[in-house]
Amino acid sequence: MDHSKLTQIFSELVVSHHNMRMLHWNVKGHGFDKAHEKFDEYTSKLSTFIDEIAEIMLMIYEEPLDLVSAIKVVESSDNELIYIGAGSKYPVTSAYAICNNIFESLLKTYVDASLSDDLPSDIKSKLDEHTYFFRLELRYKGRSRGI
Ligand SMILES: [Fe+2]
Repeated sequence: MDHSKLTQIFSELVVSHHNMRMLHWNVKGHGFDKAHEKFDEYTSKLSTFIDEIAEIMLMIYEEPLDLVSAIKVVESSDNELIYIGAGSKYPVTSAYAICNNIFESLLKTYVDASLSDDLPSDIKSKLDEHTYFFRLELRYKGRSRGI
């Protein structure tokens, strides 16, 4: 499918936001309280990022997608993003491992976009703020979780 890099980012954020909320609801076991709260914080962060990407898309005359279209974009890409459905429970360590995969995947998509898309520098700075968040969580803050 032919779509812009921003559409790809937007769509992956939408699916990741859903996945993060599923982790928030379905994490279990030792360490639940902290993890439950952390996934809530990440869900809010991803919601903010979705809105910022949508605003950038509108600025440059692209249309943010609805949920169903966003899922189709993710499914048609070669990205390995998982889709977390209801019914499974995740021990804290597995939930954090999934969370890290989500952030790694997003980081890769953002980096691809900023390398190849001809975007103004201020918009690129906004994208960099998002990648900085993912990188900080993955490479530094995540260490406190011992995984
Ligand atoms: Fe909640």
